[in-house]
Amino acid sequence: MRILVTGGAGFIGSNFIHYWLQNHSSDQIVNFDKLTYAGNLENLKNIRNNENYTFVKGDIASSKDVTQAMKGIDIVINFAAETHVDRSILDPAPFVITNVVGTQVLLDAAAKAKIKHFHHVSTDEVFGALDLASRQKFSEETNYNPRSPYAATKAASDHLVRAYFATYNLPVTISNCSNNFGPYQFPEKLISLSITNLLEGKKVPVYGDGLYVRDWLYVEDHASAIDLVLQKGKIGETYCIGQDNDIANIEVIKKILAILAKGESMIEYVKDRPGHDRRYAMDATRIKKELGWHAKYDFDMALELTIKWYQQNTKWWKKLKDRKFEEYYEEQYVKR
Ligand code: NAD
Ligand code: DAU
Repeated sequence: MRILVTGGAGFIGSNFIHYWLQNHSSDQIVNFDKLTYAGNLENLKNIRNNENYTFVKGDIASSKDVTQAMKGIDIVINFAAETHVDRSILDPAPFVITNVVGTQVLLDAAAKAKIKHFHHVSTDEVFGALDLASRQKFSEETNYNPRSPYAATKAASDHLVRAYFATYNLPVTISNCSNNFGPYQFPEKLISLSITNLLEGKKVPVYGDGLYVRDWLYVEDHASAIDLVLQKGKIGETYCIGQDNDIANIEVIKKILAILAKGESMIEYVKDRPGHDRRYAMDATRIKKELGWHAKYDFDMALELTIKWYQQNTKWWKKLKDRKFEEYYEEQYVKR
């Protein structure tokens, strides 16, 4: 099998490639990535010379790039996206280009190349926000109600994927996953930023009251879920992925502080994110019952593994917290 992984130099894409080559050693992986600020070939340096792995620099919004890359490919897995909600609030334009136009360009090339299976990696954020007081969870039946520019572009991309299935019979599947954490996550997201800030002796910025809830999943468990969708998923179907790890941000941060033996004085409450979604929670019954998926990692164990990884890979993340990152940090956390 020859698999085109778009966005394979990012956090989840690179973890997925490592997972795939370990579990399907006879497959060929082509990693197609634009290498934005979030794309990092260091994530894949130990497989650089693996004969089953190739890297192609390209943009999913370029028809020329994707048509070329699609030659001889059996399966496409689309991870490529602009992914950080706060950056989408500062500047939505690149999100529309990559997440909406890019997905459409990729779908078009996949349909023309008669790809056997197109899997689109999406998010729980397309469903909007749940109340803190309710016990409701998102499922495949939940109506779309995206509330940030990032979520709106991911929702549009999901609709396009379904449209290509209905209109052109492109064999597609979609997965909508909850918040991921683990190795190689760019240090801008809650867990990666908190760990790296604390390792640098800096405080952790907490938005609003800190009582916003996310359903956390270790990245390797996301990879195993996508693996099952590719092996056993029904064409045209959507699968929600999550682990019932609904935890308030402040509780996540307190767990990180405890593991790193730091006090609560390292918490800094800052101005809230505009339109901040209060709670996400996923009902993953379909993928569990129909495909037999279950998460391997429990949250506390995976958090310890993740912290250990950032402690052992300071060179990796320190390089990413460069001048450009500082400018972003200033705009996001200081000037607002
Ligand atoms: P990331 O920001 O770490 O990586 C994104 C990758 O896409 C980078 O390597 C970047 O260079 C590449 N890319 C961006 N624009 C591109 C373009 N135009 N052409 C080609 N490559 C491009 O993202 P991530 O956290 O690994 O997320 C991967 C996917 O999973 C995204 O589609 C995201 O919406 C989805 N997702 C993420 C999470 C999460 O918690 N991180 C949860 C659910 C779903
Ligand atoms: O739910 C899946 C989504 O999870 C993915 O689709 C996105 O690509 C990914 O970025 C992530 O989005 P979130 O906005 O939920 O993740 P983030 O880590 O940015 O924020 C998690 C929570 O922590 C959220 O309530 C905002 C809060 N937060 C975040 C940052 C960066 C803070 O309180 N302080 C911070 O500095």
